[in-house]
Amino acid sequence: MPTVTPVATTETLGPENIDVGKITAKEEKERGILRFEVITNDSTSKNLELLINLKNVFSKQLPKMPREYIVRLMFDRFHESLLIIKNNNVIGGICFRPFRDQGFIEIAFCAITSSEQVKGYGSFLMTHLKEYNRKTGIYHFLTFADNFAIEYFQKQGFTHEITLAKEKWKGFIQEYDGGSLMECVVHPNVTYLDIPSMVRRQRDVLNAKIREISTSHLVNPGLKFFKNGERRIAIESIRGIKESGWINNVDEAQIQNLQIQLGKALVEIKNHEDSWPFQKAVSLDEAPNYYNVVKDPVDLQMISDRLAANNYYITKNIFLADLKRMCNNCREFNGEGTVYFEVADRLEKFCKNLINNIK
Ligand code: COA
Repeated sequence: MPTVTPVATTETLGPENIDVGKITAKEEKERGILRFEVITNDSTSKNLELLINLKNVFSKQLPKMPREYIVRLMFDRFHESLLIIKNNNVIGGICFRPFRDQGFIEIAFCAITSSEQVKGYGSFLMTHLKEYNRKTGIYHFLTFADNFAIEYFQKQGFTHEITLAKEKWKGFIQEYDGGSLMECVVHPNVTYLDIPSMVRRQRDVLNAKIREISTSHLVNPGLKFFKNGERRIAIESIRGIKESGWINNVDEAQIQNLQIQLGKALVEIKNHEDSWPFQKAVSLDEAPNYYNVVKDPVDLQMISDRLAANNYYITKNIFLADLKRMCNNCREFNGEGTVYFEVADRLEKFCKNLINNIK
């Protein structure tokens, strides 16, 4: 091995030399601050220098791994190393061994120097590893992850489920005590370094298809009827309703029958002994503060008027909702322990029972 002079890593630099700018790792790469390189020990002094610098990161970040073991693997002819280099300093990398015939790589070591961790470099590094190997036709990544690293690997798409046939890897890879075997499968057609633009293209295709078969992109102008004082309009007069395939399947006879039943129920409610506080709207003489507290008032007279307007209550539940609100308002305004509270409770129970029995 020729003599080499290691270049400084951020392990050996003071914090003042560390770029802690807010730009992302991707932008740093675009600006030439960050670069990635896959190298092997080809005996050139350049590669040896780089490998020694990466070895320094590994031995510091993986203190349980014997240094000799790290050196042996990194410098043999079977292993390759993907380096992440920032401002010409090796700040981390992944050492892996490709098993081309079996279609997988084994990740031996992976680390980012401590001062550069949790800034997104570890993820970016793994993305480069995926892209590099995908291009060479290798789609399975295996590694023995120790407990501290499991979450990081999971976030990069590794799982404990191994889909690669056992005979392809068993006996070929180094098994570690206390580590869990994890696998990541990369897709041959996914450009891992350019997922956003791939997703954008997929979204465009999908949107074009949706436009072809739907009218969801057509926006009709808002309704002006209500501004002009109208209270009720026919559903089919709303633009876009018919075009959306809506069919008027309201059974008029059924609604008329419901109006009759609700009319009868209302008479019973008005005659109930607990209905006395609800016969008419609360007057300000009785309760000057009432309308500051109750924002949505309703009383039996108002319900009668609505019923008389015909087809306001097109289901019995809308009718019951008004009655429940009337009782709720009363409880809220008068409070627990008052006679009004008790009367509202009893009347509500009576109304629920009565309305639920309407067929
Ligand atoms: N445990 C749990 N989560 C971790 C983690 C750890 N040890 N290291 C990173 N993460 C999470 C990050 O919070 C981040 O999550 P997010 O995407 O939800 O924000 C995600 O993993 C990626 O983080 P990133 O900043 O890209 O990772 P990194 O640059 O810190 O590098 C390691 C991750 C594991 C390579 C780095 O922490 C390291 O060198 N650790 C020591 C050596 C080691 O354990 N190597 C792995 C076994 S060989």
